[in-house]
Amino acid sequence: MRSGADLVWSRRVQPLPAVAHGSGAYRGEDREPGSWVGKTDNSSIRPSASSLHVDRVIRTCLASAVAARRPPRAAAPEPLIQRASAPKGQGLRKSDRRLPNRQIMRELACGLSPGAAGRLIDMRSGGSSSRMSTMHAVRAHTRGGPEQLVYEEAPRPEPGPGEVLVAVKSASMTPTELTWPQTWTYSSDGSGPERTPVIPSHEFSGVVAASGTGVESPAEGEAVYGLIPFTRDGAAAEYVALPAAVLAAKPATVDHDHAAALPLAALSAWQALVDHADLQAGQHVLVQGGAGGVGIFVVQLAAGLGARVSATAAAADLEFVKGLGAEQVIDYAHDRFEDHVRDVDVVVDLVGGATQARSWSVLKPGGVLVTLVTPPDQQEAARHGVRGVYFIVEPDQNALRSIAELVDNGRLRPVLDRVLPLTETRSGYEALETAKRRGKVVIHVAD
Ligand SMILES: NC(=O)c1ccc[n+]([C@@H]2O[C@H](COP(=O)([O-])OP(=O)(O)OC[C@H]3O[C@@H](n4cnc5c(N)ncnc54)[C@H](OP(=O)(O)O)[C@@H]3O)[C@@H](O)[C@H]2O)c1
Repeated sequence: MRSGADLVWSRRVQPLPAVAHGSGAYRGEDREPGSWVGKTDNSSIRPSASSLHVDRVIRTCLASAVAARRPPRAAAPEPLIQRASAPKGQGLRKSDRRLPNRQIMRELACGLSPGAAGRLIDMRSGGSSSRMSTMHAVRAHTRGGPEQLVYEEAPRPEPGPGEVLVAVKSASMTPTELTWPQTWTYSSDGSGPERTPVIPSHEFSGVVAASGTGVESPAEGEAVYGLIPFTRDGAAAEYVALPAAVLAAKPATVDHDHAAALPLAALSAWQALVDHADLQAGQHVLVQGGAGGVGIFVVQLAAGLGARVSATAAAADLEFVKGLGAEQVIDYAHDRFEDHVRDVDVVVDLVGGATQARSWSVLKPGGVLVTLVTPPDQQEAARHGVRGVYFIVEPDQNALRSIAELVDNGRLRPVLDRVLPLTETRSGYEALETAKRRGKVVIHVAD
């Protein structure tokens, strides 16, 4: 379906209009991690099952030491690490000093089973050992909204055949993602058993850490970005395993935070305009929701494809959306778009509800309404002599490569509303439901 996407773009692409830089008009776009917006308390962090397990192991260790009337020896890894590297005569047997720290620690761990001691060491040492099999992640153990998200330790995934393990640097999120059936099950229609606990946030940027069998590229150490299939765990975690075939090289000219804002949202825009609307230069596009996470890319891509772009947005975002390439921007709260646009070739609906229902009337016969929100009423489409299309964005390596090229050529620009640390993922999802935003909410996972 998208095989000709590159050709389509290269045939039709026009230079994007200049966008004002450094004006401060774009909230958060230049924010670095550390200047987090939103809550900075730790209210979204609950003790995880695994950290409780470690504490229980330590308590057990201390209790058995007291019972045996001998000094406790493995209360915390930090002193143990120091002891393991201490000079001769400072508390360790000579044979101990020849052992790797990890082995000494295991031996010292109060007679615990090697497995329990190993887990204690891995968890308390921040996971530096080669046997480390856990990572920090945000997960939901029960179907629900942001309130279900817990920052905790989770098993680190292993790349299967044809897959790579990516060390996530940044991830991004989408409104309503937690209501999608495929977020919670193994099938795209939501049938079948729940796959909880799940990790959300399906677009990311990171570095390849390991490869499964049969993977020739990307190579380990390569910076990549991508959209993770929704029936798999997402990227609100230190690592994610995913098929190599859905990855592309990260745009070189932007950092991981900005690259992570692209895959799902820019692919949605690309697939709406190129694959489903078959947009042609000179056509008129109306973008409902032009300042949002997807809308910013629809406006830029449509203008870049040579279309005339109208958009709706909040009053505070009118100039911002014009700066992305829209000819006219209509204040959706105070104006009726029907009074300003007509004979539109393509409506891209990112709002749904009454906005979608009212959009039929501005399309010209033969036009198309493409929506990412809810399936449109086909009877209404037929009544207006137009097409109504709903789709769910899909991973697309070729389109991602084209998108990276557009970014690197200065033709497409990600816009970040805010950047949050992984521990604040929950507040990011809350902001998607409640806060006024412009552009994408990004999770900065690692430097
Ligand atoms: N099917 C798929 O594969 C797919 C993929 C991506 C996204 N989506 C869905 O597409 C929708 C848009 O995603 P997004 O990330 O762009 O969301 P978003 O960031 O929340 O953007 C929505 C934009 O619409 C604006 N808006 C709200 N009410 C409006 C109205 N009556 N008229 C015009 N604009 C209005 C909002 O402005 P304010 O800030 O003023 O509220 C906001 O700028 C969401 O429902 C999302 O779940 C689906």
